[in-house]
Amino acid sequence: MDRKEIIYKRYQKGAGLYDHLLSTDRLWSLLACKLVWGFPDTVYTNKLLKWIPDDFNGSLLDVPVGTALFTAPKYKGLKDAQIVCLDYSTEMMTAAQKKFTEEGIGNIKCLRGDVGALPFEEDSFDIVLSMNGFHAFPNKEAAFQEIIRVIKPGGCFIGCFYIKGENRRTDWFINHLYVPKGYFTPPFMAKKELLDQLNKHYRQVELWNTGSIVCFRGVKPSQEVLLEQGDQS
Ligand SMILES: C[S@@+](CC[C@H](N)C(=O)[O-])C[C@H]1O[C@@H](n2cnc3c(N)ncnc32)[C@H](O)[C@@H]1O
Repeated sequence: MDRKEIIYKRYQKGAGLYDHLLSTDRLWSLLACKLVWGFPDTVYTNKLLKWIPDDFNGSLLDVPVGTALFTAPKYKGLKDAQIVCLDYSTEMMTAAQKKFTEEGIGNIKCLRGDVGALPFEEDSFDIVLSMNGFHAFPNKEAAFQEIIRVIKPGGCFIGCFYIKGENRRTDWFINHLYVPKGYFTPPFMAKKELLDQLNKHYRQVELWNTGSIVCFRGVKPSQEVLLEQGDQS
């Protein structure tokens, strides 16, 4: 079975428990989260999502949407935005769709797909949001390339994911539990590698980390800016 199928099966099976694990609404998940990460996910998700303006009315791609645990409350307020959510796991996305329906959020389209082969034309979105996806994606280079392809010039890439080398205990759990269980896929990036990667393709890059989770944003330059700077990549 290739890595894409392993990850797919893991999230198909794990969708039912995912929200409990990440929202730490059970004693076991609170303890697991403290042990592995040292903090609850809301510490960084709330801050990250502030990068999407509350009056945003453009087009946004959320990949991978997962169960929309952190994004559904944000999307409820973005009534004039055109939102597309994509994930490889139908079970994860069904949980997201349930939240959108329950919250009465109508301006969202959910699609099953692979981040490495996005079914969109180039320059389609004002914002691409990728929360906690890159540590799972089997082909990270393809994901980076596809995301930049579909962002409009002047549009923004916002994301967060696990990075190695910030906390030895977290790294141990990732390598000895999350990878063998099929939740995460190596190779993992270090903070400096990500910063270099973003600076190569984006402008106005901002990046900070909470423990082993890095949060970042960058603006896709227009062709004119690239030509001025002698960079046509
Ligand atoms: C850790 S979850 C993150 C979900 C959500 N964004 C969050 O922060 O809770 C990772 C998600 O990546 C999805 N995924 C893994 N490989 C993918 C791929 N190649 N294309 C699209 N989604 C993928 C999984 O199905 C899973 O829903």
